[in-house]
Amino acid sequence: MCGIIGVTGDDGALEVIIDGLHRLEYRGYDSAGVATVRGDGLWRARAADGTHSVEALVTATAGCGGDRTGIGHTRWATHGGPTVENAHPHVDCTGRIALVHNGIIENHAELADALAGAGHRFSSQTDTEVLVHLLETEVAGGAALGDALRAVMSRAVGAYSVVAISADDPELVVAGRRSVPLLVANDDGAGFVASDVSALLGRATRYFALEDDQVAEVRPASLRVTDPDGAEAEPTALSVDPAWDVVAAQKGGYDDFMSKEMHEQPRAIEDTLFDRRDHDGSLVLDELHLGPDDLRAVDKVVVVACGSSYHAGMVAKYAIERWARLPTEVEIASEFRYREPVLHERTLVIGVSQSGETLDTLEALREARRAGTRTLVVSNVVHATMAREADGALYTRAGPEIGVASTKCHVAQIVALEVLALALAQWRGTLGRPAVSLLFDQLHELPELVEETLGRSKEVEAVAAALGGARDYFFIGRHLGYPVALEGALKLKEISYLRAEGYPAGELKHGPLALIEPGTVVVALLDPLREKMTSNVAEAAARGATVVALASDGTPEVAGLAGVEHVLHVPAVPEPMFAPAVQVVPLQLLAYALARRLGNDVDRPRNLAKTVTVE
Ligand code: G6P
Repeated sequence: MCGIIGVTGDDGALEVIIDGLHRLEYRGYDSAGVATVRGDGLWRARAADGTHSVEALVTATAGCGGDRTGIGHTRWATHGGPTVENAHPHVDCTGRIALVHNGIIENHAELADALAGAGHRFSSQTDTEVLVHLLETEVAGGAALGDALRAVMSRAVGAYSVVAISADDPELVVAGRRSVPLLVANDDGAGFVASDVSALLGRATRYFALEDDQVAEVRPASLRVTDPDGAEAEPTALSVDPAWDVVAAQKGGYDDFMSKEMHEQPRAIEDTLFDRRDHDGSLVLDELHLGPDDLRAVDKVVVVACGSSYHAGMVAKYAIERWARLPTEVEIASEFRYREPVLHERTLVIGVSQSGETLDTLEALREARRAGTRTLVVSNVVHATMAREADGALYTRAGPEIGVASTKCHVAQIVALEVLALALAQWRGTLGRPAVSLLFDQLHELPELVEETLGRSKEVEAVAAALGGARDYFFIGRHLGYPVALEGALKLKEISYLRAEGYPAGELKHGPLALIEPGTVVVALLDPLREKMTSNVAEAAARGATVVALASDGTPEVAGLAGVEHVLHVPAVPEPMFAPAVQVVPLQLLAYALARRLGNDVDRPRNLAKTVTVE
């Protein structure tokens, strides 16, 4: 899930590329590199400096510029360590073709053997390098660069996007993709390619999505797209969401994006709820493209997702089963794909994805479509591949999320899925209109409740300070507290690198209790099922755990609970089904405070990336 950008026809191509790489860093930052056409050859600079590779590239390229065509890359390492040698762009044996790549070439070993046998010299451990040597072979055989790329893609197996330039055709950028996103764009006199629109905001006026196996030839004043057989194709025009402007993708006075994005949660919820109700009080989900009749016919729901989106999906299961009385399964997308799930035309498969591009979720949805089911995606990115391919979409309107650890998108997903559960209940007649209306009104209280919770960050910071050097954490909860516990543990491990596990509280005694000793921290969500939770807290405290209880206001007995050392209070939520959107906030704040105390880069945690387009 690396970030790619290509530019042609812009006198400041290098600046555009570096700026784009800054905006694409969320996709990976193990290394960064750029190659431009300079004079009658190619010029290249690369850097690998942990999470600061783009900054290191800025230093390495200081004072350079003036080229009109080039490509750039930020890397999330898969094959080969995060070194300069493995940094993209890679060049062929002649040094006249440069190439960047995102994804995995699954048959790279076999291709590399054949290429080495034919005399090609490799200088990295990446799977990528085979692509540039294959291009070299095709070009040496007389193919133009675009045709050469098409031929290379017919041999390279996997899910990937690739962009290349050649010193022999100095104003051309070629690009192709399979299963991972790539868009092309242009403006008067300049052409662009990028992994995602954020890299090009403010630069181009027309944006197009490349479809699977298409190849684009981008020149300053022309764009040609071809299908795998070489026939001319029409690229899909994209309308860029005005909410996704350059300002929205900046820190706006906060120390980091994570902090900014946590504070944008009330707004993200408000925007996600906006305009979902008709004048007669019923819910309308316009962008869904699946009508009430389609949804009435559904007899089973399967939610597929990864990471924080999976935890939001777990919340949806409780809501859909309770209100719409539909059996609902939730599954990690990478597991769903390979287990021959039982699906039929009355099943609704819902993909939940901030990016709308995560490869495992995308492929799970494709699997579902092949089985003849209806598919729906809850995505934060309009026109993302999942949204384009699914039968219907429901958008979270959280605006761009840059911090790798999801916060505002996660909360917006919970809210969007709760709305969907209510809409299903309305259409299936399992809840009457007044009940739907009342619950929808209560959803509108969430922005204020989340705002109030954010206002209690000092309380969370004090707890983080008291927890000091603890290294082992368990997060426990029951019912809807369970997905929240999982999300709390995920946030902590993502950005603090501390060992953190989420568990259903009732499972503690089936194994994890053996790990609890003085110094272990147990973060317990007391609600729902407070009495049962109280027993689980006592069991952990009896083994010496430091217990942090998360309790709603108006739970006075919490301070006297056996074993509770710290309490994080959250405002009471009128409808318990909506509580996860509030309860998760102090856990985000706790992870943030602990990570900051450790001096970690909260926006760019080591080894991770925001959009994961590899399996
Ligand atoms: C990565 C991100 C997570 C995200 C997960 C799924 O691991 O770091 O924040 O939850 O991918 O991504 P998606 O875009 O499908 O929600």
